[in-house]
Amino acid sequence: MGALIIDGNIPLNGRISVHGSKNSVLPILAAALLNGGESIIHNCPDLRDVSSAVNILKYLGCSVKREKDVVIIDSSNLTCNDIPDNLMREMRSSVIFLGAIISRCGSASLTFPGGCELGPRPIDLHLAALRELGCAVLEEGGHITCTADNMQGKDIILSFPSVGATENIMLAAVSCKGTTRILNAAREPEIEDLQRFLRAMGANISGAGSSTIEIVGGARLHNAEHFVIPDRIVASTYIIAAVMTGGEVLIEKIIPEHIMTVTSLLNGAGCSVTLGRDCALVRRTGTLCAFRSIRTMPYPGFPTDVQPPLMALTTRCVGTTVFIENIFENRYRHVSELIRMGADIKIEGKVALVYGVRELSGAKVAATDLRGGAALIIAALGADGTSEITGVSHIDRGYEHIENTLSQLGAKIRRVE
Ligand code: UD1
Repeated sequence: MGALIIDGNIPLNGRISVHGSKNSVLPILAAALLNGGESIIHNCPDLRDVSSAVNILKYLGCSVKREKDVVIIDSSNLTCNDIPDNLMREMRSSVIFLGAIISRCGSASLTFPGGCELGPRPIDLHLAALRELGCAVLEEGGHITCTADNMQGKDIILSFPSVGATENIMLAAVSCKGTTRILNAAREPEIEDLQRFLRAMGANISGAGSSTIEIVGGARLHNAEHFVIPDRIVASTYIIAAVMTGGEVLIEKIIPEHIMTVTSLLNGAGCSVTLGRDCALVRRTGTLCAFRSIRTMPYPGFPTDVQPPLMALTTRCVGTTVFIENIFENRYRHVSELIRMGADIKIEGKVALVYGVRELSGAKVAATDLRGGAALIIAALGADGTSEITGVSHIDRGYEHIENTLSQLGAKIRRVE
């Protein structure tokens, strides 16, 4: 299955740029079903999850061409409205196709998305919202069948600002009669990016980025072109990697505003992150100090996806850092692997206490999820000796050729099959 071999304790130096956002491009690819025409999407990262989304589009009858980071989708001739189980299971985000297929075809049939390594990930909020919009939803034997004869816009109040549910409602509401308002909507930058793409194809939608999104359904849609925003989680991961190893790294093609919760935390804790218009300069300035408490929260709070990479850094900080994981139930699977490398971490429910140690040592460790895998890479970069990280396919879901990017900065990292 492949492994990454990393020799640690080598300062990273140089400049890299950040690829397009995985979490933006996936709903945008689903949204390409809506216009029944051509969508040109720029800055598409070359990731496993993006290939999975492209496979779903092709299965549904779209023609999809990829030239470097540009993906061109023609959705004029859909041949079906179902997604088979093997494609659904490839990634959790396949569920975003539900709202898009209903919007385009009036009905959809798919299975529950694959089990998730982060604990139970129900889609009750997605399905309840679709029902409220007038969709008949049948859940039977792992299948979901949705039929919508006469979908009508209305106010949907989310009990939690779920990113995926917000996206599914936005996609479905574009073809509903009347006005839909999503209250307590997720405010993540990826939601704003989806709104930009939907507007580019003619949809009447506003408010993304705030907690109320309004969609006036039924607009005539047309061909669209869109540039995907940079990946804020990837940017944060490379910033943390640079802090872990010391050295000086310029990280380009970012949107500073999207990573400020992370950079403001890092600044002053023994490193400096200077934000430019579309870049960040990262330097170590002294001894790394613990961060006291980090609570993961919906945007603009501290992102749950950055919790594992930051935890890897805190294993080497002087003092104790307390993590409180509020979004996912099972997001500490990297902890046992970090402990193999010499970290001192205790978990009690959703709280993790990280007592900084003087050094980590290279070890054989296994990535069991995407961001947990990124955490192991950061730990290995800051450890004495050589580490071998297996489970690289998880990391490939969200980081484009990570070994090439880190090598560019002078890391000693190679992939073995
Ligand atoms: C998205 C991101 C993921 C990120 C997460 C939180 C994508 C492709 N993935 O995932 O990287 O970690 O946001 O920022 O964009 N929930 C329910 N019922 C539902 C929906 C969600 O209980 O119907 C719960 C989930 O189990 C989880 C929490 O709400 O505990 C957050 O989930 P959500 O915001 O929906 O995350 P995703 O869209 O799955």
